[in-house]
Amino acid sequence: AEELARIERRVQELKRERRAVVLAHYYVPAETQALADYVGDSFYLARLAKTLDCDTIVLAGVSFMAESVKLLNPARRVLNPEPRALCPMAYMVRREDVEKVRARYAGDVAVACYINSTAEIKTWSDVCVTSSNAVKVISQLPERNVLFIPDMNLGRYVAEQLPQKNVILNRGYCPTHQRIIPQEVERLELEHPEAEVCAHPECSEEVLREADYIGSTKQIIEHIAQSDAHEFIVLTVVGVAAEIGRLTAGQGKRVYFPATPPICPNMAMVGPEKVLAALEGNLGEVSLPDNAERAMAPLERMLELAA
Ligand code: 13P
Ligand code: SF4
Repeated sequence: AEELARIERRVQELKRERRAVVLAHYYVPAETQALADYVGDSFYLARLAKTLDCDTIVLAGVSFMAESVKLLNPARRVLNPEPRALCPMAYMVRREDVEKVRARYAGDVAVACYINSTAEIKTWSDVCVTSSNAVKVISQLPERNVLFIPDMNLGRYVAEQLPQKNVILNRGYCPTHQRIIPQEVERLELEHPEAEVCAHPECSEEVLREADYIGSTKQIIEHIAQSDAHEFIVLTVVGVAAEIGRLTAGQGKRVYFPATPPICPNMAMVGPEKVLAALEGNLGEVSLPDNAERAMAPLERMLELAA
């Protein structure tokens, strides 16, 4: 605890000295979230980063989040405290599969990619999406055929919401959400029959079938804060518990997670000491990829359509 307090003090000092702002995703450890000026979901963090008045942005999340922030803010220094924090889903799509679909539906096809993908994957795509805006963004695309990469679960959820579109799925998935099994969800439902089931759309089809509410991290958190229910079964990474606790303080609401706690091992790597080290030594500076302009276009298009 003493060490944590020292890290916190030093991070606050460095933020002032460097005119730096720390952004954190809800899935990083609670101690890291506590250092942040803003905590949010993938879309919130990407959009917010463009509006900040600062010299340096530290992004505590997976590396693709820092890369997206750099693409949207090419002139700013962006620091990534843990460059080894990758997202396995970003490697679950192949260029040849994208090209095959483009050829098959030539003239009427758009490629939508989840924001936490490599810059290269973004260059194959027409628009980026996140869990919170995928339905809104895709509904506005003029094309009827939409290849959704890489996440099949989020893609299937979007397809169900938009029957007017032909959403073509790719076989990628988030290992952390896929690992939430229906048996554990059913056990929680038996133990807490009054609880509302809130699930992230990256969960499997079987798990989403049990859900009363489906949304991004931020949407789930806000739903719980506003709901009249008192008990919630939360089917996403346990990192959201910190913000649920902050927002519902004193309301007596109870949240339950699966017995095998969903933890994203990559997000878990971004400890508070790494945020301090990044700020202290300007470590993990993100450089613009070669194809930056092409990779930026789908991000800008998302900001436009999700506005
Ligand atoms: P959201 O914060 O957009 O819900 O993203 C979930 C996720 O898996 C981020 O890695
Ligand atoms: Fe990737 Fe899933 Fe971790 Fe998000 S929670 S970074 S989608 S592995």
